[in-house]
Amino acid sequence: MGLFTKDIQTLDDLFVHTLQDIYYAENQITKALPKMIAKASDPELKSGFEKHLSETEGQIRRLEEVFQMHGHQPKAVTCPAIDGIIKETNEISGEIGDKTVLDAALIASAQAVEHYEITRYGTLVAWAKQLGRNDCASVLQQTLDEERATDERLTRMADSQINRRAA
Ligand SMILES: [Fe+2]
Ligand SMILES: [Fe+2]
Repeated sequence: MGLFTKDIQTLDDLFVHTLQDIYYAENQITKALPKMIAKASDPELKSGFEKHLSETEGQIRRLEEVFQMHGHQPKAVTCPAIDGIIKETNEISGEIGDKTVLDAALIASAQAVEHYEITRYGTLVAWAKQLGRNDCASVLQQTLDEERATDERLTRMADSQINRRAA
């Protein structure tokens, strides 16, 4: 099902499609994070990624809960946007030999992922409210808050030492 198929006619259809999109994305992120954990040298960055991997597993369960609440089976549809961000992460991090520069690159990639997730969850919360599903909105909001906190944590790590060490 693509964005321009007749399967998506209503805001409700679009909401479900976007849930399927982010469900796919979160699952891809759980596969990408272990590689990022393995490549990170800074212990705080490594443990930050580990923490976010376990949060991401919880976010997948939350999405499954929202699917059920909204009367749908959890299902994933390919999200080319997250595939592109992850592919770029792998390509760039595969080229960098210097560990400190690699850490800076990993943070930048992780923030691209977080920003993608923030835009998706922000939209899903708004649409859930519009559809009268405040129950779904509040579950999705918990994940949105986690993604924002992760993004802020990454900014703090980059600003406080990782970018300076890489320079
Ligand atoms: Fe996530
Ligand atoms: Fe995330």
